[in-house]
Amino acid sequence: MDFESPVLDRVELAIVTSNRTPQGGRMRSEHGFALLASLAWSDETSAYLLFDTGASGEILRHNLGELGVSPEEIDWVVLSHCHHDHTGGLEWLLSGTGAASMVVAHPDITRRAYRTHPRLQYIGMDSPGFDRLEPARWLPVAAPLSLAPGVWMSGSIPRRVEFEQVRPHVATLREGVLEHDGEPEDLAVYLSLGNELVVLTGCSHAGPVNTVAHAKELFVGFPVRALAGGLHLYDAETERIDATVASLMDMVEGGVISGHCTGERGEMALAGTFGDRHRAFCSGDVWTLSRYDSYWHGIEDAGPR
Ligand SMILES: [Fe+2]
Ligand SMILES: [Fe+2]
Repeated sequence: MDFESPVLDRVELAIVTSNRTPQGGRMRSEHGFALLASLAWSDETSAYLLFDTGASGEILRHNLGELGVSPEEIDWVVLSHCHHDHTGGLEWLLSGTGAASMVVAHPDITRRAYRTHPRLQYIGMDSPGFDRLEPARWLPVAAPLSLAPGVWMSGSIPRRVEFEQVRPHVATLREGVLEHDGEPEDLAVYLSLGNELVVLTGCSHAGPVNTVAHAKELFVGFPVRALAGGLHLYDAETERIDATVASLMDMVEGGVISGHCTGERGEMALAGTFGDRHRAFCSGDVWTLSRYDSYWHGIEDAGPR
């Protein structure tokens, strides 16, 4: 009998929702982000992990349908942070009959998040279904935690890099007082394919460099094969974009798959530095990474849908 525990063999990353769709594609876009990770282990088991839900249930339903996945098939819904462009589709997911998924997020996911500039605006989660989630389906995660072999939640991401400090115009309303506390609930997913890491981030509000650095602290000596998600550089000053891309170049041995809040200048800086190791994503893009091929070579765009 074989008592060896299974290992994560293959990861397929499908961009469910992003700000862009390829021309003529059937997928729809909106200002939001959702990524479906199809995970396959060495014992031939598999699971779907949905990372964020986009801004609306309508787009999530349409695009998951185009990918041929129903909500009932999703094992884990992981929320990167509370902003509505990442959690807006959750209500539709939770309202589905038979949806078996467990929701995983930082305990601060329910904080009352506001933008304070140029005017006060609520930007947090709006999902009454979440408040009614029974304990067995709600997993709050504040420290690194493994959901399955090779599938890790980052927990709180330490803010260490000087140029990635708390943004000034975001706040939380607590007992009638607005506190500028950054986005404390920001959480990433770390997947280990053998001894290589795939880092998934929603908006990188903890900072893309901090997010990758935290992964490297947890998995000492593991190269980062891919960093995928929104890097939130769209409103960053040029110096910060340059510092971010230079640091990522030092830490990411594989490639960067970016979109959503990365912004045109961020995408251009990444493309200029990473060259062929950078991809800007659209809704419907799919990449497959396997334990059996090397760094960047497994990342082939399956083409627009
Ligand atoms: Fe976002
Ligand atoms: Fe965000």
